[in-house]
Amino acid sequence: MENFSVVILAAGTGKRMKSSLPKAMHKLSGKPLIKWIVDTVSVLRPDNLIVVLGWRAEFIEDFLSDSNIKFVYQKEQLGSGHALMQTEKILRDYKGDILVLNTDVPLIKSSTLLSLIENNRKTGASATVLVAQTENTFGYGRIVVKNDGCLEKIVEEKDATPSEKQIKTINSGIYCFNENLWKALLKLKPNNAKKEYYITDTVVILRQLGKKVSSIIVEDSCEVKGINTRIELSRVESMLREKKIKELLYDGVSVVDMDNVYISYDAKIGMDSIIYPGVFIDTGVSIGKNCTIKGNSYIKNSKIGDASTILYSYIEDAIINEKVEVGPFSHIRQGSVLKENVRIGNFSEVKKSIISENSKVNHLSYVGNSQVGKDVNIGAGTITCNFDGIVKHETVISSGSFIGSNVNLIAPVEVGENAFIAAGSTITRNVPSGKFAIARAKQEIKEREG
Ligand code: UD1
Ligand code: MG
Repeated sequence: MENFSVVILAAGTGKRMKSSLPKAMHKLSGKPLIKWIVDTVSVLRPDNLIVVLGWRAEFIEDFLSDSNIKFVYQKEQLGSGHALMQTEKILRDYKGDILVLNTDVPLIKSSTLLSLIENNRKTGASATVLVAQTENTFGYGRIVVKNDGCLEKIVEEKDATPSEKQIKTINSGIYCFNENLWKALLKLKPNNAKKEYYITDTVVILRQLGKKVSSIIVEDSCEVKGINTRIELSRVESMLREKKIKELLYDGVSVVDMDNVYISYDAKIGMDSIIYPGVFIDTGVSIGKNCTIKGNSYIKNSKIGDASTILYSYIEDAIINEKVEVGPFSHIRQGSVLKENVRIGNFSEVKKSIISENSKVNHLSYVGNSQVGKDVNIGAGTITCNFDGIVKHETVISSGSFIGSNVNLIAPVEVGENAFIAAGSTITRNVPSGKFAIARAKQEIKEREG
């Protein structure tokens, strides 16, 4: 769509969150509220994308600094209408539509925003308000309509009469204005319980000026669920999670206990995979088909290939290929690549290492900054000693080698192909291909004294 601009109001103190962070930076499914809105509106490619900042502006500005956003500042938090006034320098002479959104309605869809702009154009209204019908009206502005069904005014909870409080149509906090906005905005007065300049009062003023004001009802009221408190944030999180899990179930993924897993909105999971209770799948995860993810496993920003099994393990920033087994109780860390048929088990940790096909690190090992070839067996308790206190060094273990239990590989060090290292060795020099290395003190047997 062309010829429209977007304003996101994010200057409020978010007092009800009881936080030192601005509300816009509180995370929903790992993503700050402001980013949900920015991502949704960016898809529509507005002429201007303006964010109004105020309380703790620096947090939001730092976070959004790389993007194509114009920031304006509201020095004193005198209300949502006053926040919008701060965009005057950029938008006063702008002739297109102006879409205004609160920062706390993260689930709004870009298609709904498009309908709102289209409605404003089609009806020739100076403003169109996106409204919703819901039983759960507490805290929202109520939509008061005249006998002819036209939108008359928006009354805030604190200013509403008992009968107005019964109204089930609420203001979503999302509006589309045309250039007449400024005629109304500059006339706002803080005549209300909170003594603030309310954006919602533009409706009455535009009508008094003889301008048309319209509204459209959002089909799914969940889309405009506002977040003012941490309780609401948690509820929206649950809504989002339930929606995601249902989508996965429809797509052929099994989730054994829907109420007892956390799956991020952006997770991709293939058919016939099974997610058991207690699993936490954070952002940036893609899991293939026929996988089993079990028992308090945490996975973030990682790819898991088809037919892999993850048991009670912590995986972050890793690539795990097909038919891999991880766990129980393994830690696969940043920069790790586990190739097909690899097995990492029982209290082993892998960091920044490539472990090639069919290799095994089954018990109590640490493999860091390493390249491990195919068909390697790393025995219980083996450690790659990769850190000299200042820098990290690399260990190379080539294909077919056997590393006995409790071996220390003092990096940098290389073990050639099909080499054999005896249990309990501390390896400080390279081991050539096909050789046997042993580096441990000889056992002595002595008579017991006394
Ligand atoms: C607002 C609406 C209400 C609507 C609800 C939908 C007003 C007066 N009321 O109420 O009708 O039903 O949203 O969720 O707008 N802000 C500023 N500067 C300020 C004050 C607020 O930038 O001085 C921003 C906030 O950061 C927020 C938005 O304006 O993004 C709305 O403020 P909020 O306090 O959340 O208003 P609600 O009480 O939810
Ligand atoms: Mg709000």
